[in-house]
Amino acid sequence: MKKYIIANWKSHKNLSEVAYWLNNFPNNEESRSALTNLEIVLAPPYPFLALAKEIIESRQLPIKLAVQDLSAFGSGSFTGEVSGHNLQDLHIEYAILGHSERRRFLTETSQLVADKVGEALSWKIKPILCLDKPYFAEQARFLPDMTAEKCFLAYEPVAAIGSGLAEDSGNLLEIRKELTPIYGSKILIYGGSVNADNVGAFLQVCDGVLLGGASLSLNDFVDLLFAASQSIV
Ligand code: PGA
Repeated sequence: MKKYIIANWKSHKNLSEVAYWLNNFPNNEESRSALTNLEIVLAPPYPFLALAKEIIESRQLPIKLAVQDLSAFGSGSFTGEVSGHNLQDLHIEYAILGHSERRRFLTETSQLVADKVGEALSWKIKPILCLDKPYFAEQARFLPDMTAEKCFLAYEPVAAIGSGLAEDSGNLLEIRKELTPIYGSKILIYGGSVNADNVGAFLQVCDGVLLGGASLSLNDFVDLLFAASQSIV
């Protein structure tokens, strides 16, 4: 099975930086065949989704699109929200939901995140549900029956995010054991200070990684992709 490399640009980059990154993403025969064992997912800020789709399609890049959030409401009078309906035709395959930055700075509750998960699934968008210890059970509490197992679980220890202090990859086996009885989902993603040097260790014990900082520079990201790909051959 392919390993997931999910790049979350958060609120970084403007239009020309996005165009540069995507127009220069390597796409020759050699890089395409080297990266076939990876599912590369990019979550740019909302305003650049259409541009990203256009460049990905015109260059036939092996990149899938994700959103960094999704409205819990349908389309309607919800100023500033982005609904599943708004995203139609943009080929969005994944939604990062409940990221700790949204829970912390935007006071997202587990109930709201659960509603977003339901909304994503209703639009056939796969939820990448961000979780942290010791809240695994509480963060699952509001998910309707049979929903949790449809989520990708992204274990994202807050202390590891953006700090350069990644979790010990050896702990991921224990984390999987804790999450499985609660969520049932089989896909476990790790996020928090992943880089080209440690990505291989994480891919030995989980199904993919979620990156912030290491996805911003195209060169760093491509180095990480090659390190990831070689670590799983
Ligand atoms: P980081 O962010 O890779 O910059 O630590 C990870 C995340 O927020 O998911």
